[in-house]
Amino acid sequence: MTNTSRDSDVPPEPVVEVRHLTHRYPVGNETVGALTGVDLTVNDGEFVAVIGPSGCGKTTLLSIIAGLLSPTGGQVSVFGSDTRAARRSQALGLVTQDPGLLPWLDVASNVLLTLDITGPHDGADEYVTELLERVGISRFARYYPGQLSGGMRQRVALARALVHHPRLLLMDEPFGALDEISREEMRFELLKVWEQEQMSVVFVTHSIREAVLLADRVVVLTGQPGRVKDVIEIDLDRPRTASLEDDPRYQSLLADVRGLLVSETDRSDLVHAIPGTRR
Ligand SMILES: Nc1ncnc2c1ncn2[C@@H]1O[C@H](COP(=O)(O)OP(=O)(O)OP(=O)(O)O)[C@@H](O)[C@H]1O
Ligand SMILES: [Mg+2]
Repeated sequence: MTNTSRDSDVPPEPVVEVRHLTHRYPVGNETVGALTGVDLTVNDGEFVAVIGPSGCGKTTLLSIIAGLLSPTGGQVSVFGSDTRAARRSQALGLVTQDPGLLPWLDVASNVLLTLDITGPHDGADEYVTELLERVGISRFARYYPGQLSGGMRQRVALARALVHHPRLLLMDEPFGALDEISREEMRFELLKVWEQEQMSVVFVTHSIREAVLLADRVVVLTGQPGRVKDVIEIDLDRPRTASLEDDPRYQSLLADVRGLLVSETDRSDLVHAIPGTRR
């Protein structure tokens, strides 16, 4: 089961449309290419993972979709309008690798602050408590960021990104700094939240397992400057569970993604040894 389509016969407008996207950064008197000719569509309710070698432009792509960076070429629309308008409408949530919590505020206040940016809200405290419950961290509402583990901090960052019920959640290697057990736990928590919120997600990761476990589609980028090498449909049933590890279809999809990446990189942190696959 996916929560991609809603209730009408008319195909819904894509949430994200990226066409012929190119970005070059100025460096001294020259420019360096980060992305070239990238096309990407994200549909309503879809979970899309983006994977590619380090430096291939994944963060650049997310920053452009988030309206934080203007591309040097191509078109990007989010909810049918320009990216800055989408950002202003608060329909976007962003979670980065560094949770970026304010150390002098406790967990609840860190989340409340994001809500308060748009002015005072009735029932804000109750809403923050509910959000913290949803991401499994309500017991730690009065803790300060320095008193939390990395996984807990990422849960707070997720709660903060969900504050305005985003229709599109952009995540840049959000679990990259976590140990494998916390990371696995967070993956399933995220899937639960995604199903509850019925939002679209663009999820950048270095982990092949994470991409295949989470996504409806995995977009594989080439090395720098990044372009789309291939898009793999992940036709695994939902809800996804840890028992997928024993599913031959899952293993075969891992091998497909890995095969695409191996020719792009020899980085050992990207290409894990996956049983049953060849290098
Ligand atoms: N502000 C900047 N100024 C100049 N070059 C930049 C800037 N930001 C990124 N780059 C370059 O653009 C390319 C793409 O960077 P980006 O951070 O998007 O890659 P990435 O795929 O997210 O990498 P990683 O997997 O390591 O996070 C890299 O070569 C990087 O050096
Ligand atoms: Mg990055």
